[in-house]
Amino acid sequence: MFILKNEVINLGQAVIEMKDIGKVYKTGSNEFKALYGVNLIINKGEFVSIVGPSGAGKSTLMNIIGCLDKASEGQYMLDGVDTNCSDGKLAEIRNKKIGFIFQSYNLLPKLSILDNVKLPLIYQGVSDKEAKQRSIERLEKIGLGNHIKHKPAELSGGQMQRVAIARALVTKPEMILADEPTGALDSKTGKEVLELLKELNDEGNTIVLITHDRDIAAQAKRIITIKDGTIASDEINNK
Ligand SMILES: Nc1ncnc2c1ncn2[C@@H]1O[C@H](COP(=O)(O)OP(=O)(O)O)[C@@H](O)[C@H]1O
Ligand SMILES: [Mg+2]
Repeated sequence: MFILKNEVINLGQAVIEMKDIGKVYKTGSNEFKALYGVNLIINKGEFVSIVGPSGAGKSTLMNIIGCLDKASEGQYMLDGVDTNCSDGKLAEIRNKKIGFIFQSYNLLPKLSILDNVKLPLIYQGVSDKEAKQRSIERLEKIGLGNHIKHKPAELSGGQMQRVAIARALVTKPEMILADEPTGALDSKTGKEVLELLKELNDEGNTIVLITHDRDIAAQAKRIITIKDGTIASDEINNK
């Protein structure tokens, strides 16, 4: 577990810096503490998995890391920016700094592969011409250059997840946040997606992978275990 002293001697460049993060869910008069006392630093270039059993608080933590929800306690700095800000500013930080990969790909079915990948750039106000060029480059790098006009439903699960990975990378985010990215794939395709994530990390991308599966978590260079709403262990994976 991290203690505050670690922060002082942290020599890397922090992408994620959490101090005593907690989350309380309120339903009617009931309060439930889904997360408490989370102290966490993740540096640029790391490949970290966050693992834990169902109900441990992974999704709660991921929503906070991903700026999809706000903590009820503590401080979360993302790439040096305090996330305790207005919802509009938070959405801007999210779009600029994080590339998301979800279990269910979250591609828009009516848009072509190219238009799906272009979307986050368009949201950022990048011109259509530049967005198109950058998206095609990304899709070519990931081996989908021949599929840019296809609709998501015309691709296999593995190909759809690669499109989602291209979409996550096209904005050159500070961090890739992957939530059970292999959860909907067969084991062979899942392995290929994990290999791709490792390659992206070798190229310098910071990756945070959330999973309930210990074997998948073991592919990362650092494994953080969440249990009963807090960090139970945080280990370098030497395997
Ligand atoms: N919106 C919510 N309102 C109330 N309780 C919630 C809400 N979301 C999650 N929880 C509770 O918080 C705990 C952690 O949930 P979650 O973060 O989804 O865990 P995990 O993703 O590890 O399965 C669970 O006990 C869950 O029931
Ligand atoms: Mg969950």
